[in-house]
Amino acid sequence: MSQPEAKPAAVPGATFTLTDDETGKSWKLPVLEGTVGPKTIDVRKLYDETGMFTFDPSYTSTASCKSRITYIDGDKGLLMHRGYKIEELAEQSTFLEVAYALLYGDLPNSTQYDEFVHNVTYHTMVHEQLHFFFRGFRRDAHPMAVMCGVVAALAAFYHDSLDIWDPEQREISAHRLIAKLPTLAAMSYKYSIGQPFMYPRNDLSFSENFLYMCFGVPAEPYKINPVLARAMDKIFILHADHEQNASTSTVRIAGSSQANPFACIAAGIASLWGPAHGGANQAVLEMLEQIGHKDNIPEFLRKVKEKQDNTRLMGFGHRVYKNHDPRAQVLKKECDAVLKELGVNDPHLELAMELERIALSDPYFIDRKLFPNVDFYSGIILKAMGFPTSMFTVLFAVARTVGWISQWKEMIEEPALKIGRPRQLYTGATERAYTPIDKRK
Ligand code: CMC
Repeated sequence: MSQPEAKPAAVPGATFTLTDDETGKSWKLPVLEGTVGPKTIDVRKLYDETGMFTFDPSYTSTASCKSRITYIDGDKGLLMHRGYKIEELAEQSTFLEVAYALLYGDLPNSTQYDEFVHNVTYHTMVHEQLHFFFRGFRRDAHPMAVMCGVVAALAAFYHDSLDIWDPEQREISAHRLIAKLPTLAAMSYKYSIGQPFMYPRNDLSFSENFLYMCFGVPAEPYKINPVLARAMDKIFILHADHEQNASTSTVRIAGSSQANPFACIAAGIASLWGPAHGGANQAVLEMLEQIGHKDNIPEFLRKVKEKQDNTRLMGFGHRVYKNHDPRAQVLKKECDAVLKELGVNDPHLELAMELERIALSDPYFIDRKLFPNVDFYSGIILKAMGFPTSMFTVLFAVARTVGWISQWKEMIEEPALKIGRPRQLYTGATERAYTPIDKRK
């Protein structure tokens, strides 16, 4: 079943009236509505008609684009991709099925699915020359630094899919990125521990192959643990897209200049790296290590609440969710399953649960509507699976590549692509004359 044609449509009879109190002049602005979600004031002609800009530096009230891909209702704790709820996708779908839906709009039938899996799998290897790029990095380089470099470098290798106006080339680039990101991510891990790179195995599923490339060695056979492979797949599904977050907006704005998709995804990776965004999963584990013991929680939370040294409870809070993050709830359950399967008794899990319990009953967090987000539990699972903390954000990038490239493709396929170019509220010096250096004080 195809989705309804995207709106936005002007809400009949609804306008927003803006009045300049100084002059008494007023303007009527159209009000738009999508299929669900808040109504939106259309300010596109505002400057032409009024000579004024809007001011919204962190985009707290600005819809930067229209999109049919992902919908979040932050007050209800709802996340849907193409109309499918994330909980159902995580429980019943596979990562590549979700990837298909994000890219093409609907879940695939079995023929479409097989074809898509074939197309992605076909591209899992990277050009041999790329191996030399890795050797140029220090072994102790952060794998996100390596990823920023090697993903951008893909544009130097795949000249035959750089024409963004050719739908076939766009599709091949999308398949290449989805397929090669796990290979590059695994290589960045192998390089950091001095083990040989493992070539992808196309007889394995997306997540099985990723675990194999990370944890297999050429000297012995690698046995796939189905519980871990399923957990990996779920983690990838939960991170696949999240509408117009910082990294996705970065990809869109880079793409709006008609830059090639490999460069755009590299820009997304750079943006994801920050601890306020994808880097939070690494920061959560570091925070748990720093807290060390349940007894130290009150002291840690005191620092958070007093905003001492900008300390934040990492893995808590979200710009959009003002209720629970549905991804965090799925992950918490998955965390139990993985630790049980591995027979791991991680004191970090107990510490995290106690931290969550205390925070959720503390007025500071209640008043600000701060709940655990996707990053709060993901690190504990990933650590139990054997990933070092520095790889956590890389895994996020592997999954989010699907969302980034779907959003990029959607943007390019708009009838008119216009470069993204925000305006500013200038607060600097007004015009002044140049003073020669010998005359300056
Ligand atoms: N710990 C303590 N206080 C917090 C936290 C936190 N994690 N998050 C927000 N606050 C406070 C903040 O200090 C502010 O308080 P006040 O009103 O007294 O000034 C209030 O809550 C509103 O915060 P904000 O910074 O204006 O909210 P935001 O929407 O700009 O920030 C956020 C969203 C995710 C960057 C923020 O909640 C945060 O820094 N969280 C910790 C980092 C984190 O877990 N990031 C992962 C986000 S989910 C995955 C992803 O998107 O990559």
